[in-house]
Amino acid sequence: MQHTLAQSLRAKLRLPVMAGPMFIASTADLVIAQCKAGIIGSMPALNPRSTQALDADLARIAQNVGDMPWCINLVAHKTNERLAADLEVVLRHKVPIVVLALAADAGLVRELQANGSLVFQDVIKNRHAQKCAEMGVDGIIAVGAGAGGHTGDQSPFALVSEIREWWDGLLLLAGCIANGRGVLAAEALGADLAYIGSPFLASTEANTQTGFKQMLVDGSAKDVMVTRCFTGVDASFLRPSLIENGLDPDNLVPATRGGAINISNGGANQRAWRDIWSAGQGIGAIKQAGPAGEWLDWLANDYAAARRDMGLAS
Ligand SMILES: Cc1cc2nc3c(=O)[nH]c(=O)nc-3n(C[C@H](O)[C@H](O)[C@H](O)COP(=O)(O)O)c2cc1C
Repeated sequence: MQHTLAQSLRAKLRLPVMAGPMFIASTADLVIAQCKAGIIGSMPALNPRSTQALDADLARIAQNVGDMPWCINLVAHKTNERLAADLEVVLRHKVPIVVLALAADAGLVRELQANGSLVFQDVIKNRHAQKCAEMGVDGIIAVGAGAGGHTGDQSPFALVSEIREWWDGLLLLAGCIANGRGVLAAEALGADLAYIGSPFLASTEANTQTGFKQMLVDGSAKDVMVTRCFTGVDASFLRPSLIENGLDPDNLVPATRGGAINISNGGANQRAWRDIWSAGQGIGAIKQAGPAGEWLDWLANDYAAARRDMGLAS
């Protein structure tokens, strides 16, 4: 079922797609390229080196994307020493969409909404989605199995169906969506928008090493493993990047569940993400590195072809 917010967002988009914010990798240039190519661009507030740099990036994004919706991801966790200062900047720039991660509270949701932002929260379980709905979020991002970053472990068929039983608000689906059929399948399942991360790691505008981009081009689902050893919760990593760092992917020491999340110092102290590279199982669809806009042109054509194949209006 379409509801008003989904309709008004989709009316501004060339494709029913929002980019997932990615620690270290997403840049202001990537957000601008995503928006110019007709999807919702996004990046984490922590990616710019300082709150001042964030301020400058937000001004540049706002100047370059017209009335396209774009998004900043705030990590609302006690170890995020920049939260208060970054929040002030996000409020001042009236960022259109804020994705909250980790320990968000209803007060923060209300503060952002009162200032004009839409607030989305990602979830990996139906119960968590219900808590987010109680907090009054505008959109729920269902992160299914196989996603890049902190992944869910439930099939999107189960997760979206359970959430759609009671939630008719804006619903996004994440996890391995990397081609036109994937976007269409997310819609068929009941999502309003597909939420895509990993394919943008290979884009020119992403802050990812050449070796990382090549590993994505060379890799496929078999190269992605899930472990909580680095961050304390399940996250997807590229097996070859562990091996390159002298680790044995099959013999890792488990971290305490939840205990290892620590993003103090902007998370820059973490080897995971910077040297041990994260990506989702959908990377088989990444055939080359290049500008995000070119990949989105391809995605738009592939999505149109998928719609034609299914006998749907383009
Ligand atoms: C390298 C990497 C870093 C990520 N960092 C964040 C982050 O800082 N905040 C966040 O909310 N999600 C983060 N994610 C998750 C993405 O926003 C998105 O949910 C996910 O990539 C979707 O799955 P896909 O990669 O299979 O498309 C990250 C994902 C990757 C691959």
